[in-house]
Amino acid sequence: MNIKIFDTNEELDQVGGNIIASLVQTKPHAVLGLATGSTPIGIYEQLIFLFKKGLLDFSQVTAFNLDEYVGLPEGHPETYRTFMNKRLYSHININMNRTHIPNGDAPDLEAECRRYDSMLAGGTQIDLQLLGLGHNGHIGFNEPDHALSSGTHVVDLKEETRKANARFFSSIDEVPNQAITMGVGSILKAKMIMLVVRGESKAEIAHQALTGPITTELPASLLQTHPNVVVLLDKGAGKYFY
Ligand code: F6R
Repeated sequence: MNIKIFDTNEELDQVGGNIIASLVQTKPHAVLGLATGSTPIGIYEQLIFLFKKGLLDFSQVTAFNLDEYVGLPEGHPETYRTFMNKRLYSHININMNRTHIPNGDAPDLEAECRRYDSMLAGGTQIDLQLLGLGHNGHIGFNEPDHALSSGTHVVDLKEETRKANARFFSSIDEVPNQAITMGVGSILKAKMIMLVVRGESKAEIAHQALTGPITTELPASLLQTHPNVVVLLDKGAGKYFY
């Protein structure tokens, strides 16, 4: 595991964005696994910056997102589809037909999970999976549990996750109780994983996840089993690694 700690978030964003950019430059048909939340925003800004400078072409890239809330209608400002369009896709030349996000408003959620898995199966392999880290150690929306699902599934969000995400909604009551998430099996199948963690409030969980016992009660700890993980931490999140 390659752990890098940055003095500033700007440096972290540049390095994170440049790692994804180099992949797209060397492999125009790259398959990216993408995340939402506050963590990747600066990295997406770096990709947009490089694209606007004419250094990147996303026209052949395919992207799969990790997760989506259940029950928010299409076009709702807090769906992860809206987030991706606003924070990245509307600024670059990606073919929208190649951008995949689970449909959390599907009438049959189980069928939607199988549909998503079928796209991730067979010859498709994610070249680089970008991950943030939940305060409780979740990756995607794989919440701590005595067992974890390998494939895409519907998950009940933990109260701490709903609380953490309430900042994006007008009240906690509006935060969905469930989400669809890619499973840890799909995440670990990626050729390379880039875990990004920011802020002192995640320092302890990041340290436990990366150096402590591997357990489904701390889903990010399963990343220790992957052969090609790069971890980008800001100073706060990296404080126990000094
Ligand atoms: C988002 C996702 C989540 C977030 C995590 C951290 O697609 O999969 O695991 O990465 O909840 O969220 P932020 O970045 O908002 O602190």
